[in-house]
Amino acid sequence: MAKSRFEYVRNYELPDPLMPNAFIVVRIDGRGFHKFSDTHSFQKPNDKRALDLMDIAAKTVMTEYKDVILAFGESDEYSFLLRRNTKLYNRRRSKISSSIVSLFTSAYVFHWSHLFPEDPLKYPPSFDSRVIVYPTEKEIRDYFAWRQADTHINNLYNTAFWALVHDGQSTTEANKTLQGTDSKDKNELLFSKYGINYNDLPAMYRKGSICVRSDPRAVSGVQQTDVPVSASASASASAFAETSALSSLSISNGVSKTGTEDHPHETNEILQTRQSEGQKTRSAKKIKPYEGIDGEIVVLHEDIIKDRFWDERPWLTM
Ligand code: GTP
Ligand code: MG
Repeated sequence: MAKSRFEYVRNYELPDPLMPNAFIVVRIDGRGFHKFSDTHSFQKPNDKRALDLMDIAAKTVMTEYKDVILAFGESDEYSFLLRRNTKLYNRRRSKISSSIVSLFTSAYVFHWSHLFPEDPLKYPPSFDSRVIVYPTEKEIRDYFAWRQADTHINNLYNTAFWALVHDGQSTTEANKTLQGTDSKDKNELLFSKYGINYNDLPAMYRKGSICVRSDPRAVSGVQQTDVPVSASASASASAFAETSALSSLSISNGVSKTGTEDHPHETNEILQTRQSEGQKTRSAKKIKPYEGIDGEIVVLHEDIIKDRFWDERPWLTM
């Protein structure tokens, strides 16, 4: 087909690939949610329905995009981590960013009535989106730690702020009361004045929401992936070594007969090479590490700052 004379404008569409082999984070954030939450009478400081809706929208994104292996949400924002070597849309920045925020927004609207059956949407909400690329595991862990620390700081402030307001202070007065206070002061204020033990508040409010898949191969509650990769690799290798020692075998075709008799023209050296090649193939098959792209998506409200969360899920930073 002949090209039209207008076709040249296509050349203005510049490629926008993201660096290979680096971690991609997409963060979406509700636009003008201060007003949106007021207009739709969200409970203060936290509305569980609104947070549940955010989690459902995030799960929708993860269900559609398997390469999103982790998501963290608080308030009106959600961060999505794509696996390091994702080939999604050839790693095109705009395509990845726009597709994720678009699906998130439509899922938010689609499920609105399930969470707010009595309160129809008064106008269409929207979310912005940005992409950040991080070079190493350290920055990824620090990124999610940063978001969870933010959740804690905001929630502690908001809890104290709304306690004061519900107690009769104006918003300006409550602001003033909290000026210059640190987290110990706020905890103290909540406990001594209102009998609120901050640590007893729902973990969802204090820790935010983590969406992550669980390893479907996990047996009786023990995840194979709980074992560090190197340990499981050596365990599989030695298990295989035992098997091969027992049958003293030819491995690749699965026919188990003793070596030298079946291969009269081959030296032991060649046989050993073959055996170790077979061993590699078998071991590699056995220990193919879980990549976090299949399995059930679970929503957790736990610590993402300490090592434990990451140690239990080595695939997140593979
Ligand atoms: P932009 O993101 O810059 O467009 O501004 P924004 O108005 O969305 O504010 P921002 O993203 O900084 O903060 C989110 C706002 O959403 C909070 O300040 C709250 O006003 C509101 N919000 C989010 N979650 C809740 C909730 O559970 N309850 C209530 N009452 N408000 C919430
Ligand atoms: Mg916002």
